[in-house]
Amino acid sequence: MAASVGVVFFLLAAALAAAGSSEAALVEHTFVVSQMKMHHLCNDTLVTVVNGQLPGPAIEVTEGDSLVVHVINKSPSGLTIHWHGVKQLLNCWADGPGMITQCPIQPNKNFTYRFNVVGQEGTLWWHAHVGFLRATIHGALIIRPRSGPNSYPFPKPDKEIPIVIGEWWDVDLVHLENRVENRIYEDWPLSPTINGMLGDLSNCSGVIEDNYILNVERGKTYLLRIVHAAVHEEYNLKIAGHKFTVVAVDANYVKPYTTDTIVIASGETVDALVVADAPPGRYYMVAQAVQSPEPSPQIPILVSRGIVSYNPSKGSGDDDTPIVAPELPDQHDATPSFYFRGNLTSLLPQPVPLNVDEHILIAIDVGDICLYAGSPNCMVSKLNNISFELPTTTSLLQAHYYNNMSSSVNRLQELPRRPPVVEFGHSPTSKATVVRRVRHNATVEIVFQNPYSSDLISNTNPMHLHGHDFFILGQGLGRYDAVRDAQAYNLVDPPARSTALVPIYGWMAIRFVANNPGVWFLHCHMEKHVSSGMALALVVENGHTLETTLPPPPADYTSCDNQNSRVADE
Ligand code: C2O
Repeated sequence: MAASVGVVFFLLAAALAAAGSSEAALVEHTFVVSQMKMHHLCNDTLVTVVNGQLPGPAIEVTEGDSLVVHVINKSPSGLTIHWHGVKQLLNCWADGPGMITQCPIQPNKNFTYRFNVVGQEGTLWWHAHVGFLRATIHGALIIRPRSGPNSYPFPKPDKEIPIVIGEWWDVDLVHLENRVENRIYEDWPLSPTINGMLGDLSNCSGVIEDNYILNVERGKTYLLRIVHAAVHEEYNLKIAGHKFTVVAVDANYVKPYTTDTIVIASGETVDALVVADAPPGRYYMVAQAVQSPEPSPQIPILVSRGIVSYNPSKGSGDDDTPIVAPELPDQHDATPSFYFRGNLTSLLPQPVPLNVDEHILIAIDVGDICLYAGSPNCMVSKLNNISFELPTTTSLLQAHYYNNMSSSVNRLQELPRRPPVVEFGHSPTSKATVVRRVRHNATVEIVFQNPYSSDLISNTNPMHLHGHDFFILGQGLGRYDAVRDAQAYNLVDPPARSTALVPIYGWMAIRFVANNPGVWFLHCHMEKHVSSGMALALVVENGHTLETTLPPPPADYTSCDNQNSRVADE
C-alpha cells in the first residue's frame, strides 16, 4: 500500500516537473497580535489585529505547500487562529477552534501552527476562533494550483484581488462575547466593510468614510477572491454594470456560473471572474446584508460601497464622474440566496458515496434555558434540543486523545440522531457539551432542518464543518421529507463545500466521508448563534492503521493545564 502510494507520488511529481511546476515549499509567516487604535465615525476604537492590519495579511501558497505560522500574542486576551476550510488531514491539533482542539494562546505567549495545504485550490481564509475576536482578526488564504496560473480551469485572469467583506464594530469584542453568553443579543455593527473600508454611506459630522477602490483597465479580467469575514448576516454583492462568473466556492471549483449578484454567507468564500467590459466610468460595488423577516430580530440596514474605477490616472478622490449604482434586491428577500446556491454544481462529476452509514437529522431552533417562564434573557440556540457549551478545563481534542472525555468534560452529551420532537419554537432546553461520534471512514449524511413556519424565528444558518469538505446534495423549503426529497438529490455533480447554508424556513442535506480522525467543530458561522449554542463536535474515531490514526500532539501544544483558559472567564 505504502509502496504504491510512493510510486504514484513519484509519477505525479515527475509529471508536474515536466509541466514546469515548482516543488512544494515551506511558507512561513509571523502573526503578531496586538491592540491598535483605529478611527472611524468620530471615534477611536481599540481593536485587536494581526501585524497592525485590518483585514490581516493575506497568506499565499501553492497547493501542496507547508505553512508555518508563528503566532505571538501581545494582546490582552487569549486567542487561537483557525485555518477555515483547510482539511488538516491527520492534523486536527493545528485546526485551532478554542477549547475544541486547543486552549487559547495566553497573552504574552506564542504558538506555532504547522500544516500542509493539500488537494485544495482557490480561496480560503484564517480567523481567530474565540468568540467575536474574529471580527478584527482575519485574512485571506489563497491557494494557487501547483502547475501554475495557466492551469486554472477558466480563462487566466489578468489580476487577482482579495475582497474581504467584514464589519466595523465600535465595541470591545470580548465584552460583546460576554453579553451574548449572558443572552443579550442587541448589539450590531455600525457598518459593513469592503477590504476594511466602511464606504461613503457612512459618515459622522460630515466626515465621509473612504471607499474601497478597485482600479480596472478596460478589457481586462479580474479574479475576485471574495471572503465573508463578517460575523453575522449573509451579504448580496453586486457591481453596477458588471456580471460575475463564479468559478469556485470554499476552494472547490464549480461549473462557471454567470450572475449579477453573489450571495455569500458568514464563513463562505467565492471566487468570481469580472471582466471590465463596461463603458469607462465609475461603478459602485455594493455589499448589502440580507436580513430575516419578523419575528426574527430586525437589524439596522447594513450596506457598504466600494468603487470599480476605470479612471485610475485621475485619482479616484477628486474624480467627479457620477458613480453608477446597482439595483439591489430587497434586503428581506431570501430568494436570490436560494437560487444562487441552487445554481452551483461541481466543475467535474463527483465521487458521491451512495451507501450512507449514519443518517443524522438536525433540527435548528431557539430554546428557553430558564427553569420557569418569565425570566428575562432566556433564549439560546440549540441543535436537536441541546444548546452547546464549550468545555472549560480541557480542550475536547485533548480529552478525546487521552481517552478521558467523560471524566474531564462537565456535561457531556451525545447528539441524538433525530430531534426529540419534530416541533419548533422556543421550548425548554438544557446546555451540554454535545458530541457525535462516528467511525473512521463512515459515510455520514446530515439533514439540517430550520423552523419552517413563518410565525417562528428562522434564519439562513451557515453550518460550517471543520476538517472535511462535504457534498451539498439538496436544499428545499418547508419540512424535509426523507422519501420525496432524497429522490431529488444531486448525486452527480453536487458542489463540495465546507459551509452549508440552511435556507430560511427550509432544509439542507450534506454527505461526506468521515476520513479525518479527531474532534471537528460543526457550527453555525454566525457568531451570535455559535456563542449561544448552535454547535456540536464531531468526533471521528481512529482507523485501524497508523495512517488512519491521529498522531500525538505537537511538542508546544497549548494544553489547558496550569492556565486559566477561557477568554470569557477572564
Ligand atoms: Cu470559520 Cu469554526 O470557523
